Order: sequence, then C-alpha cells, then structure tokens
Amino acid sequence: MQIKLDELPTAQVYFTMTQTVLPRPIAWVLTENDDTSYNLAPFSYFNAVCSDPPLVLVSIGKQDDGRDKDSIRNIRERHEFVIHIASCEQLAELNQSSATLPPGESEVDAGNLALTRVSGFRMPRLSDCKIALFCERHDIQMIGSKKQQSLLFAEIKEIYVDDACAEINDKGRLKIHADRIQPLSRLGASEYASFGEVLFARRPD
Ligand SMILES: Cc1cc2nc3c(=O)[nH]c(=O)nc-3n(C[C@H](O)[C@H](O)[C@H](O)COP(=O)(O)O)c2cc1C
Repeated sequence: MQIKLDELPTAQVYFTMTQTVLPRPIAWVLTENDDTSYNLAPFSYFNAVCSDPPLVLVSIGKQDDGRDKDSIRNIRERHEFVIHIASCEQLAELNQSSATLPPGESEVDAGNLALTRVSGFRMPRLSDCKIALFCERHDIQMIGSKKQQSLLFAEIKEIYVDDACAEINDKGRLKIHADRIQPLSRLGASEYASFGEVLFARRPD
C-alpha cells in the first residue's frame, strides 16, 4: 500500500501519521494553572531534539473549538513545567488525564495523583513517575495553516530518576535500566505499547 498524504483530508492524515510513526514516547506534562492548582495532560508528538542546549519538542494542537489547550496556555504564562515518562502500569491514569476539563480544574486532583516537591524548582513532580524532566520554556513556534500547532521547545534543567532504576557504573557513567521503568508508548488511535525486550548492538567503528 502506498499512501499519498496530499490526497487525504486532515483527519485521515492524522490517523495515518499516528499509525505509522511507531511507537511514540509520551510527554506527561504538569503545568501550573492561574489559581496555583496543577494541570496534567499527555502528548505523544514528543521527542528529544538537541543536547546542547538540552531540548525536547512537544507539539500541542488546539481544542476542537479552536482555543488553546490549557497546557500551552499555562506554559506561555509561567515558564516552568515538568514532563514525566509514564510506566505501563500508569496507562489508566495517563489516559484519564487527557479528558478536557474546564480551565483551572485540575487533572491531578481529579485523578488523586500524589505530588512530590523538589528543592530549587517551583513545580513539583508526580510522585509515582520514575522519570521527571524539570523544564523551562525555551521557545514556542507556531506551525500549520488552518489549525495551528504550538511547537514547544522545552529546555531540561534537571532530571529526576528513581534510584531503583539508575546506577553509576564502574566507568563512572550513569546507567538507566529501561526495563525497570517499563515506559509506556503510544501507537495509533487508542492503542498503546508496553515495553519489550532490550536489544543490544555496538556502533560500527
Ligand atoms: C496518549 C495521548 C497522546 C496525546 N498526544 C497529543 C499531542 O501530541 N498533541 C496534542 O495536541 N494532543 C495530544 N493528546 C490530546 C491531549 O492530551 C488532550 O487534548 C488534553 O485534553 C489536553 O489537555 P489540556 O487542555 O489540559 O492541555 C494526546 C492524548 C493522549 C491520550
């Protein structure tokens, strides 16, 4: 099958892309609302794009009615936020946090999710996530014609990793055990993927 995207309506392009760019990591993004409660939402148009400065990119679309999603609105107003990597066992909570609640209503409170404060950073992290990226807004670029997407470049200032999933090896290097994190990933539509086997291949000289 050969699929020409410029012959498809936008919704079909979305379904085609999300079923072919596989699997995608998920940014579970915690931001602060105007009233100091917290907003939480998942985004799978997400990846690392630069190490110097350390940047990840999250692409955030509009609500169906054309308004900005709460996450990007909050990040425009307050530049600190936290991106979590969810484990497979957190699928139900992550999926629930994608519900559209009225602005200012907290998905963290609705999901009864615990938060942990970190010294030196304004935002807390979700206590049950094994990885949290403490970020500051680096840049937001708008892309697209009719329904614009906000491309959020997030600069990672600090990273939390659960000690049970990380160690410093004999060469003094950080080693993260991905199999202990069991990161959840996104496929198309309502499908997700659990973590598989770790494969190993040395880079050619
Ligand atoms: C796993 C998953 C991945 C998602 N990825 C994206 C995405 O990359 N971009 C986007 O705009 N919306 C994405 N969504 C939808 C948002 O999570 C949803 O619109 C959410 O209500 C936004 O919340 P907010 O208004 O609190 O920011 C995704 C939903 C799920 C369940």
